[in-house]
Amino acid sequence: MNPSLGRRRLLGYVGTAVAGAAAGAGAGVVGAQALEETPAEPARPEVLPRVVSPYGVHQPGVAAHPTAVTEVVALDLRPELTRSRDRESLARLMRVWTGDVESLSAGRGTPGDTAPWLAAVADLTVTVGLGPGLVGEEWGIAAPEGFARVPAMKHDRLQEEWSGGDLLVLVAGADATTVGHAVRRLVADARPFATLRWRQQGAWRGRDEQGRPQTGRNLFGQVDGSANPKPGTDLFDTTVWIDRGPWAGGTTLVVRRIRMDLPTWDELTRAEQEESVGRRLDDGAPLTGGTELSDVDLAARKDGRWVIAEEAHARRTHPSTNGGRRLFRKGANYELVGAGGESETGLIFQSFQRNLTGQFVPIQQMMDAADALNEWITAVGSAEFAILPGFAEGEWLGHQLLA
Ligand code: HEM
Repeated sequence: MNPSLGRRRLLGYVGTAVAGAAAGAGAGVVGAQALEETPAEPARPEVLPRVVSPYGVHQPGVAAHPTAVTEVVALDLRPELTRSRDRESLARLMRVWTGDVESLSAGRGTPGDTAPWLAAVADLTVTVGLGPGLVGEEWGIAAPEGFARVPAMKHDRLQEEWSGGDLLVLVAGADATTVGHAVRRLVADARPFATLRWRQQGAWRGRDEQGRPQTGRNLFGQVDGSANPKPGTDLFDTTVWIDRGPWAGGTTLVVRRIRMDLPTWDELTRAEQEESVGRRLDDGAPLTGGTELSDVDLAARKDGRWVIAEEAHARRTHPSTNGGRRLFRKGANYELVGAGGESETGLIFQSFQRNLTGQFVPIQQMMDAADALNEWITAVGSAEFAILPGFAEGEWLGHQLLA
């Protein structure tokens, strides 16, 4: 965060509160003195809404700490533009979206915005990507290495309405109104070029009551994300970022809409639930001991059996079971409530990796072959996107590929 911005906002907040109290006492001058004399409140920059700069080598939303609200939106390019492989129009859309991203990230409305008051400073990030239909020879856009559609898995029950797409906008932020407004503006501004294909919304508790970052929980109650490579480390960089060619600074994303059967999950004992992953429910620590951030000990045995079961999710997906392959995962819990109160629950699972077929696909196949969680989870949507590299002020999204 920009520290001066955080300080200004904090002062703005304190100032308003003190001024309000002073106005009540009918003494504005006292208010000004009080502002100076009031001992500074402990700074809690984490709980204050922040501006995330849209500029950089990478789009900032990928590595950003998970926010409370995420909307994942797929669009399709208009058929006439697809037929003519109209790169110029695609580039124009990217320039329009670049302007929108700059405004929305700063808490401003977009050009022609009918409700600019809904834009707010709220940790907002917008991440843009291209689907498999827009990369490759036909478009004259080199595909990132290993970028392809995820092959069918035997446990999948994919629905067209949650799958595929030419373009991605992934909007994340601290507040649902701000995020929803950003999505509507981005979709509206894309209208001459592209139409909405699907839109999914989910929530995540990535901060504790004090506003400090924490690993959130999925709807099974599990701490989810503990074994992720940490942003800013070499491991993260080699797992996530493409490091050469026109996509350098970009990555690839798989979005899976995964239904979770909570009623049958609830029938399990706590021990059964914990064994299905190999980690404790209360704090996310491995069943082999340690704390949330400890690695699972896949060699540990008790009474002649593996402590982390053969089919436990943490064993099936562990790097040592998968030739050292890793992913950077993010989640957003969804609950789609129908008119009669029936609800569908699940996880909008997002996996970022440098090489989709080299990393994601083998791990997903390992899981599909035999993972204890398969009994309670079903992928109902799936889509792949190549996430564009970042851009600097004065540049536009995708200029490395489309200029
Ligand atoms: C609703 C579906 C899923 C649930 C509830 C779930 C839950 C979990 C939980 C609780 C953990 C342990 C904590 C952590 O390290 O994050 C975990 C780890 C992991 N999951 Fe999942 N997961 C799901 C889907 C997937 C999918 C589709 C993949 C990839 C194909 C995947 C890959 C991984 C990986 C790579 C790890 C880290 C393993 C390690 O390094 O120890 N998960 N998951």
